[in-house]
Amino acid sequence: MIELELDGKKIQTNSGLSILEVALKEGKYIPHFCYHKKLSIAANCRMCLVEVEKSAKPLPACATPVTDGMKIHTCSKLAIEAQKGVMEFLLINHPLDCPVCDQGGECQLQDIAVGYGGSSSRFTEEKRVVSNKDLGPLISTEMTRCIHCSRCVRFTDEIAGYQELGMGYRNNHVEVMPFIGKTVDSELSGNIIDLCPVGALNSKPFRNSARNWELSRRKSISPFDGLGSNLIAQVDKYHKVVRVLPFDNDELNECWISDRDRFSYEGLYHKERITKPMIKQNNEWIEAEWDVAIAYVAKSLHGIKEDHGADHIGVIASPMSTLEELYLLQKLMRSFGVYNLDHRLTQNDFSLDGKNSGAMYLGGSIEDVLSSKSVLIIGSMLREEDPIFAAKIRKAVKNNLQLNVINIYQEELLCTSHNQITVEPREFAHILGELVKLTGGSSVVELSDIVDEEISEHSHKILASIKDGAYILLGEIAKMQNNYSQLVILSQELASNIKGKFGILSNTANEVGARLVEFTPHKFHSNPHEIGMNIQQMLNKPRKAYFIMNTEVEYDCYNSKQTLSALNHADTVMVLSPYINENMKLYADVILPITPFAETSGSFINTSGVLQKFNAATRPYGGSKPIWKVLRIIANVLGVEDFQYDTIDEVRCEIDKKYNISDRLNNNIDKLHFKFHKDASDHLVRFGAQSMYGRNSITRRAESLQLTKQATLPVLMISKTLADKLEINGLHQIQVVQSAHTRNFNVVIDDKLAPKAVRLMVHDDTLGFGGRFDDIQIQK
Ligand code: SF4
Ligand code: SF4
Ligand code: FES
Repeated sequence: MIELELDGKKIQTNSGLSILEVALKEGKYIPHFCYHKKLSIAANCRMCLVEVEKSAKPLPACATPVTDGMKIHTCSKLAIEAQKGVMEFLLINHPLDCPVCDQGGECQLQDIAVGYGGSSSRFTEEKRVVSNKDLGPLISTEMTRCIHCSRCVRFTDEIAGYQELGMGYRNNHVEVMPFIGKTVDSELSGNIIDLCPVGALNSKPFRNSARNWELSRRKSISPFDGLGSNLIAQVDKYHKVVRVLPFDNDELNECWISDRDRFSYEGLYHKERITKPMIKQNNEWIEAEWDVAIAYVAKSLHGIKEDHGADHIGVIASPMSTLEELYLLQKLMRSFGVYNLDHRLTQNDFSLDGKNSGAMYLGGSIEDVLSSKSVLIIGSMLREEDPIFAAKIRKAVKNNLQLNVINIYQEELLCTSHNQITVEPREFAHILGELVKLTGGSSVVELSDIVDEEISEHSHKILASIKDGAYILLGEIAKMQNNYSQLVILSQELASNIKGKFGILSNTANEVGARLVEFTPHKFHSNPHEIGMNIQQMLNKPRKAYFIMNTEVEYDCYNSKQTLSALNHADTVMVLSPYINENMKLYADVILPITPFAETSGSFINTSGVLQKFNAATRPYGGSKPIWKVLRIIANVLGVEDFQYDTIDEVRCEIDKKYNISDRLNNNIDKLHFKFHKDASDHLVRFGAQSMYGRNSITRRAESLQLTKQATLPVLMISKTLADKLEINGLHQIQVVQSAHTRNFNVVIDDKLAPKAVRLMVHDDTLGFGGRFDDIQIQK
């Protein structure tokens, strides 16, 4: 601790802080532009000049560390003159076109100019004009307004992971620009709009659509990944969400959000959004009143139950739904005698059902992961699944976290990884088995197939990084494997051998919540007569009726072909969805228009088990209704007891009484003994990826995001090894065969794929193919 004097007040503070940080802590405002709490110090705007006694000239407060006995004057005559001088320089070339500037009303330059700017300019020369830059579909520019604070440049380099902007030219000619021929393509790019203290960088979709002061600000939670980023949804006078900004939460998203969180709101008002219930009659879709549609649903459910039994109804819901929605749907269906419930749309192995006594989750807090010495992530496209978590990992790597990754694709993680192993998913269990063997073996997994002398070099390398304790994490790709249960057990055994921790990464907002409120065919303590079918069983042995909530299953489930076939052959398909699409028109019989996250209240439990409640940011669009109300009415019409909720809070209270989150969050599994068999097959495996902006029905409809590089990936990519073997280059078309479906695609060669992997995206053109990680054949 040191003692200093700030504007005549004696204060004690930590050494190592800057004058600006100490002043802000003390509630003293010093004008500044280039300083940002999460970025490095650039000290290039000079707006924060202050007087420090015994210093020959004013010093920049953001770049001057406090020292013992320092006497600082932030608003002395000298300091104010210096600050006003800087402001005058900043304004000489500034266009001051506030009336037509998107930043007007929320502009740091405008605000500070009120206090420090002159009433007229002494600059009579011609102002300079800077040409605008093309930064891509999300960010528009007015570069003449730029004050060269370099926040955007530092952000791309320090937080987004690779520098996409720089300062070109010098002195009066300096310009911020992207690299020649490039745009800003980071999945976090929108944060530079918030960082820009002036109106040089603006949101392209929002541009010129509203003024900040006309908009209401409502807090919300992102439904698009497992982190649960805190958001501000800005709503206009027509009750539409027109902009989304980050809300600071230092434990989760800090002050950033991903582009998916920021720009997905555009999908809320897509032309496929339906505002009235729709019923199919004689193959024609007609709009219906709510009471008619609800009666139709109730009659269909009753009919199937009476004619075939409740077991012939399958219920599938998205884990993007809120805790309250999932709780009510399972309560409604279980009361009605239906136990076939599942939210695990892409899971492909259910051997652990009934064996875990709690809701599986990250196994600790986000901070626990980041502060560990080493982390091993298996089967995850981290930046696509959770862009902000990936940024936090990058930051932790800078602070010495050792990152080890095993995946089917060598994702550009934009940080130094200790090991990045790219193998087919059948190798995941093998590598984990080797690591378990190297760290002392296992009492539950028989590992005799692994011979000590044959243990691979990459397992030895990973071992060197994790042997003194590490966090072992399974990602989305691991969850889609047909030996997922083995991956879980092996990861747990490994974590226990090295005295580390084990966890599962959620890739949607409420996966943990869905497990917690038992939206699964097994309850935690199931009566054996009340165990239903999992999603795979429901689709393998098609049901007579399906009740689908908040998902376009053909895109979101593991196997599009199987899903569409089951739905197209069902007697009745009831869908609760904000949207209608061409496939839905064929398989559905009734569609109830429900509200997405921005128009409903609820809660999500994030990947690390943090429960976050949120209220509707705006009113339901058109005649759509929140799911909890729709379910309540269906339950009332069906005569299900104990379903009289007047407010969402009553549902929340019931959940709180019934489930104790901290007791229920655990990754404990009854010991599952198995013998590890080496998979020696060398079949080609499909990597059935969804693009970063194709992972949910709202984002899929966000027009600006669909113009980005991430959304316009080629449908088919093959590894370099395969291309060489088939003697093909990027000019060829190749034939792809899977699940008796054949189609030709232009091929792109990607040397980041595992040698025996074929990346075939989930896409309108590939819905006829089978499982996302099933075997696949290709030919020239
Ligand atoms: Fe006005 Fe600020 Fe826009 Fe400049 S950046 S024109 S000061 S609102
Ligand atoms: Fe700063 Fe904005 Fe200019 Fe970037 S564009 S240097 S953030 S003023
Ligand atoms: Fe200190 Fe810019 S904020 S120099």
